[in-house]
Amino acid sequence: MGTLEGKVAVVTGGGSGIGFAIARRFAEEGARLVLVGRRRERLERAAAEIGRGAAGIPADVGVEAEVKAVFDRLERVDLLVTCAGGAVFGTIDGLPPEEWKRLFEGRFFGQIYACHHAVPKMPAGGVILLCSGIAAAAHVPEYSGGSALCGAVNALGRNLAVELAPRGIRVNVISPGLIEGTEIENNLDGEKLMQFWQSTVDRIPAKRAGRPGDTAEAAHFLATCAYASGIVLDVDGGWTAA
Ligand SMILES: NC(=O)c1ccc[n+]([C@@H]2O[C@H](COP(=O)([O-])OP(=O)(O)OC[C@H]3O[C@@H](n4cnc5c(N)ncnc54)[C@H](OP(=O)(O)O)[C@@H]3O)[C@@H](O)[C@H]2O)c1
Repeated sequence: MGTLEGKVAVVTGGGSGIGFAIARRFAEEGARLVLVGRRRERLERAAAEIGRGAAGIPADVGVEAEVKAVFDRLERVDLLVTCAGGAVFGTIDGLPPEEWKRLFEGRFFGQIYACHHAVPKMPAGGVILLCSGIAAAAHVPEYSGGSALCGAVNALGRNLAVELAPRGIRVNVISPGLIEGTEIENNLDGEKLMQFWQSTVDRIPAKRAGRPGDTAEAAHFLATCAYASGIVLDVDGGWTAA
């Protein structure tokens, strides 16, 4: 019997990358998966690959009414994982602030909306896994607004862990370092992206980027360890320790 047998798990951003790897891992452990993302075809492909009754519900997590509509369709949510989001890069005086605002709308408020609408459906024993990023703790060039976002998610997770403990709900945060093999949206052109990638890998003690499966292992631990709450777990190959 799997460690998540009979659980209902909602994974935003579950159609690709980190969210997909977590969804697949949870399904292998017996959870029934609901994947949320904007692109229907991507969700359908991911759900078919995961199998075991996985389903996709299209929604933009930055629009509260769409998030509400997702959870209105569900009777119970045992596990909520919020991986939807992308990245945007730019200097403080170069990038229009509106871009940071847009990033927050999906990647930060998307997590708030999901928690707001999932928690009433969560029984004791429920688990929330937020997703931030290493930029909260390590310098990532031209990413000031993104690093602020990651820090905000970490703080949100730790605060919620205390708020929801009396209801038997645990809250943790996965903070990925550089993860390859995802389809993350960003505004870097090919050459800049390659420079960013190489200079970042050089700074990682593991001397490689992480893989979505690495984050899925971390997520499984946080989902199943009954005493793990209020944790921000860096999955970063030692980057922040260096
Ligand atoms: N890869 C890394 O190195 C890294 C490092 C630190 C943090 N992160 C964070 O980890 C999370 C997962 O990223 P990833 O690398 O796995 O990228 P990914 O493959 O692009 O996964 C993100 C998923 O989120 C969905 N999504 C994006 N915006 C959405 C929105 N507004 N509403 C609903 N769904 C949305 C995308 O699908 P649709 O486009 O179809 O909506 C996509 O499937 C992101 O928050 C990312 O910022 C990634």
